[in-house]
Amino acid sequence: MKTYILGIESSCDDTSAAVLANNKILANIIANQEVHRKYGGVVPELASRAHQQNIIPVVNTALINAGINKQQLNAVAFTRGPGLLGSLLVGTSFAKSFSLGLGIPLIEVDHLQAHILAHFIQNNEGSRPVPSFPFLCLTISGGHTQIVLIKDYLQTEIIGKTIDDAAGEAFDKAAKILGLPYPGGPVIDRLAADGDPYRFSFPKPKIAGLNFSFSGLKTSFLYFIRDELLKDSNFIQKNLNDLCASIQHVIVGILMDKIEEAVRKTGIKEIAIAGGVSANSLMRNRLKETGEAMNWKVFIPEVQFTTDNAAMIAIAGYYKYLKKDFADQRAVPYARSQL
Ligand code: KG4
Ligand code: ZN
Repeated sequence: MKTYILGIESSCDDTSAAVLANNKILANIIANQEVHRKYGGVVPELASRAHQQNIIPVVNTALINAGINKQQLNAVAFTRGPGLLGSLLVGTSFAKSFSLGLGIPLIEVDHLQAHILAHFIQNNEGSRPVPSFPFLCLTISGGHTQIVLIKDYLQTEIIGKTIDDAAGEAFDKAAKILGLPYPGGPVIDRLAADGDPYRFSFPKPKIAGLNFSFSGLKTSFLYFIRDELLKDSNFIQKNLNDLCASIQHVIVGILMDKIEEAVRKTGIKEIAIAGGVSANSLMRNRLKETGEAMNWKVFIPEVQFTTDNAAMIAIAGYYKYLKKDFADQRAVPYARSQL
């Protein structure tokens, strides 16, 4: 008997629905919201409205692509937080009425936990290698930067986190300073491919232990660009690729230093990365190379599971379903991490 879980993700600006049969993916539909592009960031009110428009077609398409009807679903899992409250409300309300209408369990999922559990989504052949417990996961997204010790599917401990900006925010803010569109991470990644990462250097923060800081880097980048523009108003255009490669090199360097420290501290050599910034090509390459050199076992997610998606919500829902960890109709979204 297969367990079919419908996952719903609406924490920020992607409306997504996915269907899993046990731990295997049948469908994962994501509707991106283009409406924010011209504002240089996500506008919460516009995001909620777009979620309202997208949610029914996205769920419908997921069910059609999965080849099942809604009566076959065993449970519906939704992102309860963290994220934008208005956005979360759309997914939460939809999931509640869906579970009520079908008489199936409702499962609440933490978005950050889901990013990590995306590593357990299995392909059709069941041949994808998955981490074994305990392992470390560097979760790097637009809102969070954490090193998490994963003891079991649903048992995690945060052993390091950012004290100010997230890694994705560092990419997005640097891109904004360079006049690049939002979200800036993928744009910097692309432009950096033709740039020299050693052309410009920026100071790494000196933060003890496993915590991170990115706000100082952003300020020094901002002042550097401001000063250079005073000397040459075309400075950015002339050096765009090198600027992107250099800032990316520092951000990834900060992340890699802390992973190495976490391995030294815990003795754990199974390392995963998760979240939007884990799509970054330098991050992926550096982790792979360091893993080979240091004899670590590394887990790099498929690009489709790095940024926000409902397949990760459905897999987290599946493990909660096995434990009969169900939510009730009073569950309300939360904006900040509860872990
Ligand atoms: O996990 P995610 O989709 O949403 C949050 O939960 O925040 O992460 C979005 C973040 C954005 O800051 C975006 O710029 C960054 O991930 N990102 C990247 C890349 N792709 C997405 N950053 C660097 N390089 C990329 N290729
Ligand atoms: Zn995310």
